[in-house]
Amino acid sequence: MNAADVPAFGTQLPRIVAEPPGPRSRAVWAQGRECESRNLTYGGDGGPIIIERAFGANVTDVDGNVYVDLSGFFGVASVGHANPDVVSAMAGQAQRLFHGLGDIYPSEPRLQLARELCRLMPGPGPKRAILTGSGSEAVEVALKTAKLATGKPGVISFRGAYHGLGYGALEVTDGELFRLPFADQLGGFGRRADYPYCYRCPLALRYPECGVACLASVVDIVDREGDRIGAVLVEPILGRGGDVPAPAGWLAALRRLCDARGLLLIFDEIFTGFGRTGRWFACEHAGVAPDLLCVGKGLAAGFPLAACIGRSEVMDAWPASTGEAIHTATFMGHPAGCAAALACLRVVRERRLVERADALAPRVRERLEGIRAANPHRVGDVRGAGLLWGLEFITEDGRPDGRAAAAAARAALQRGILVLRSGPQSAVVSLSPPLVITEEQLWYALGVMSDASSA
Ligand SMILES: Cc1ncc(COP(=O)(O)O)c(C=O)c1O
Repeated sequence: MNAADVPAFGTQLPRIVAEPPGPRSRAVWAQGRECESRNLTYGGDGGPIIIERAFGANVTDVDGNVYVDLSGFFGVASVGHANPDVVSAMAGQAQRLFHGLGDIYPSEPRLQLARELCRLMPGPGPKRAILTGSGSEAVEVALKTAKLATGKPGVISFRGAYHGLGYGALEVTDGELFRLPFADQLGGFGRRADYPYCYRCPLALRYPECGVACLASVVDIVDREGDRIGAVLVEPILGRGGDVPAPAGWLAALRRLCDARGLLLIFDEIFTGFGRTGRWFACEHAGVAPDLLCVGKGLAAGFPLAACIGRSEVMDAWPASTGEAIHTATFMGHPAGCAAALACLRVVRERRLVERADALAPRVRERLEGIRAANPHRVGDVRGAGLLWGLEFITEDGRPDGRAAAAAARAALQRGILVLRSGPQSAVVSLSPPLVITEEQLWYALGVMSDASSA
């Protein structure tokens, strides 16, 4: 291959020049680690790689290694890292009006983005949006909206759910790791039901013959505490909870249940929104629309921005402003972030990335099923949609095997492929690459995952 044939950075295959973590990564980590909370970054296995540059589906570290990114940095970089259209829209806006005044004086990008989000939210009728600075805050806005609209504080969420770690979001996030240290500071308004995690069905049944019997765990709570429960909050596909898609029939039945019992249905599509699953929103696979929708991550391609959008009848439970907003923040509707989001959504549309994710999905599934078939005692389940997939690693007797998943992720890293882990005991290798990843990069990376997944 001569120099002219080398793909541009962003579309390259991995190139490992120093075994990760390389000497410079180790040195930078050794210098910096004492100044951060020791809880933040895992320091074992020689420490983390120190990332330096990212573009398209490539990432480099300070040792000069080039990686192919199958994580999308938690699915955020849907349009590719440092997408040039997004960066230039953001830079142009930053030169005109970088920061705004929160809720006081709107900027045009803030209002344009709200309009665009209202247009995109599935379901009929007018919508309204509240922009936030993080997914956790978007969930908290949804919780507040549900309280205002129903008068009831209680919210049902699901086992395995991850909705963020602010105190409101933590109340509806599952998992002792996050909750236990702070349990006595939480509000107590959350109730937990079974998620339709079919691979580990809580009732040991099979979909669809089960008739979504696990929905009974929601019904039980409503029967017991209906006078206090105002809303159900769910991820149509569990993201950090293990890349677990809820069956379409379950989501449709949940919608019917909410309608019958006067509950608001909130979808958290912070991970799954904006094309990640081969639809603009994952709920569209089931043809089900929520009352409130939380979005974030891929919304602004890397700028910290999220939103709660909702049907206007529900959102208008917020009183008209009398000069002091009762939910806002200093950085609400950040003009540069809103410009980034508008450009990002344009890129998703113009490059037909939703359609691309959908078109690639069957071949990704086939490739991953091949990995499972070759390692039936190590990889128990393959699941996902679009370009969001999970490979669940298991022990000989079928329990979640976090060590095997960690070993696979480490082996992939050594060969220049970045992946994340999710799910119970972090036993799931989670794939959420940029939707612009080239096919060459994708199939190469899945080939590496195949090797890395073998015992
Ligand atoms: C489904 C879901 N909801 C909420 C959040 C929290 O978002 P943030 O980390 O921006 O607060 C996340 C983050 O991973 C998520 O995956």
